[in-house]
Amino acid sequence: MAMTELSTPKTTSPFLHSSSRLSLSSKLHLSNQFRHLQLLPPLHTTSNSKISCSVSQNNQAPVAVQDNGSVKTKKECYGVFCLTYDLKAEEETKSWKKMINIAVSGAAGMISNHLLFKLASGSVFGPDQPIALKLLGSERSIQALEGVAMELEDSLFPLLREVDIGTDPYEVFQDVEWALLIGAKPRGPGMERAALLDINGQIFAEQGKALNAVASPNVKVLVVGNPCNTNALICLKNAPNIPAKNFHALTRLDENRAKCQLALKAGVFYDKVSNMTIWGNHSTTQVPDFLNARINGRPVKEVITDHKWLEEGFTESVQKRGGLLIQKWGRSSAASTAVSIVDAIKSLVTPTPEGDWFSTGVYTNGNPYGIAKDLVFSMPCRSTGDGDYELVKDVEFDDYLRNRIAKSEAELLAEKKCVAHLTGDGIAFCDLGPVDTMLPGEV
Ligand code: LMR
Repeated sequence: MAMTELSTPKTTSPFLHSSSRLSLSSKLHLSNQFRHLQLLPPLHTTSNSKISCSVSQNNQAPVAVQDNGSVKTKKECYGVFCLTYDLKAEEETKSWKKMINIAVSGAAGMISNHLLFKLASGSVFGPDQPIALKLLGSERSIQALEGVAMELEDSLFPLLREVDIGTDPYEVFQDVEWALLIGAKPRGPGMERAALLDINGQIFAEQGKALNAVASPNVKVLVVGNPCNTNALICLKNAPNIPAKNFHALTRLDENRAKCQLALKAGVFYDKVSNMTIWGNHSTTQVPDFLNARINGRPVKEVITDHKWLEEGFTESVQKRGGLLIQKWGRSSAASTAVSIVDAIKSLVTPTPEGDWFSTGVYTNGNPYGIAKDLVFSMPCRSTGDGDYELVKDVEFDDYLRNRIAKSEAELLAEKKCVAHLTGDGIAFCDLGPVDTMLPGEV
């Protein structure tokens, strides 16, 4: 492939003409592009010059751009997303925020297939927030990742300005401000929990190291792949330069499920249920807190007087909802998980409504509830909308809640011992007890 020269328009618009854009091949040529980029001579430009994508003579994807003087090699960019744009150059985009980089692992999977299109549509980060998607997959899924990128191209989302795909977290996580870690090995038939903890733990240890090395120092990390609490702990332990507070394990799906069950029992629409905490592990020991939750602003126990149902039926239905869904579908939840990821992100980037809170699995150091430190535990949080959060302090406890929370805490402490070799805590010792409390995963 012969390369055309990089154009350096200094006074004219950096946008490519639409005809150039249309002629771009949407085929991916990772290795070729990389080779060519290695051969590119140094570029000499003024500081405010901008080099737009070059288009090869045989119409292959553009391979290099220069933005504000820095050469940006885009060896993993995909098709139309290899073009760069000056977002300040057009009336429509002038007022937009600075682009953010969002990494998604397991990007060729079912959950991501629902999630990516929501992210790209602007319904998560807002209508003035351009985004770059950095999609991480396995070697085996690279073709499928190209398929995902093609569908993103064909969707013509105005806010989606870059898509990169790759299999190396050290490349894909470069400068990301959000990392949505979905990819994990599903639990196979007959697989021991300890084995799953180890296999997936290794993935998250590696990804933690990569984030530590190349991500934005204040990156927010949401771990979805199960067992998500312990995976999040492993990830944060391998990323000492990133604040531990920035790591989350997804329990928002459990919160949503709990709200739905309470609404159903009370005969109200689910937006009437608030202050719903999920405590603990995203497993069947999780504790949906009906003591502090509210329906139409009133304590749940006042509205639903069948307390036996709350303690048994309700609690179990939330704990086992994921497993039941697997029985029906033959696979794990995907669409509702994607929706709950969106909810979890929105809870951090928009102010929490007055008096309400949301659940997320976060690092326990400094928690006011007496939960053991150095775990990732789901707790009630509030945010001012800046991406950060604070734990809610004024929650009530009774013996039922305390005992249940203690069981989930004990489970997470046991899981932590199983992965000590991945968290830098010495030699692993795994005794998870006779009862299988982990969510089943796909079989
Ligand atoms: C869910 O809650 O639906 C999933 O986390 C279940 C699973 O084990 O994949």
